[in-house]
Amino acid sequence: PRLDLGLKTRDLVDGHPLFADLPDTRREAIARLMRPYFAVPGETLIRKGEKGDAAYFISSGAVEVRTPHGPLRLGRGDVFGEMALLSGKPRTADVAALGYCQLLVLGAGDFRALMKQSPDIAENMARIARQREEMNVPD
Ligand code: CMP
Repeated sequence: PRLDLGLKTRDLVDGHPLFADLPDTRREAIARLMRPYFAVPGETLIRKGEKGDAAYFISSGAVEVRTPHGPLRLGRGDVFGEMALLSGKPRTADVAALGYCQLLVLGAGDFRALMKQSPDIAENMARIARQREEMNVPD
């Protein structure tokens, strides 16, 4: 079962747009840090105000982010849960699965390690988090 999981994780990382341009060896290293997680419809994945312990990469399916300005849909290729890890602040929104959803989960420690190993991904992640933070500022 362990081998199957490893292969599956590798496939999911290879198929995720955020990692598509990376060399093979880098994707292999990233796959070793990730855990596949299959979410069911309606499942709450993140609760606003809690401490951040992981980031999530969407391989398939969609989730709903309940932002201060209303619900927002994220799908294949998107990331969520990165803001609390980057800022050290509590979770900024509730996030729930809209349907069945194949995710890759990266624990906080491994997220930090990945950001250190991959300046390109770190830059990308910081840009995404900054845009979302700006979007959430109340008018
Ligand atoms: P975090 O704050 O850790 O937990 C909730 C997550 O929802 C957050 O990280 C982002 O990944 C995501 N999120 C919050 N606000 C937005 C937004 N305006 N647009 C897209 N995603 C968001």
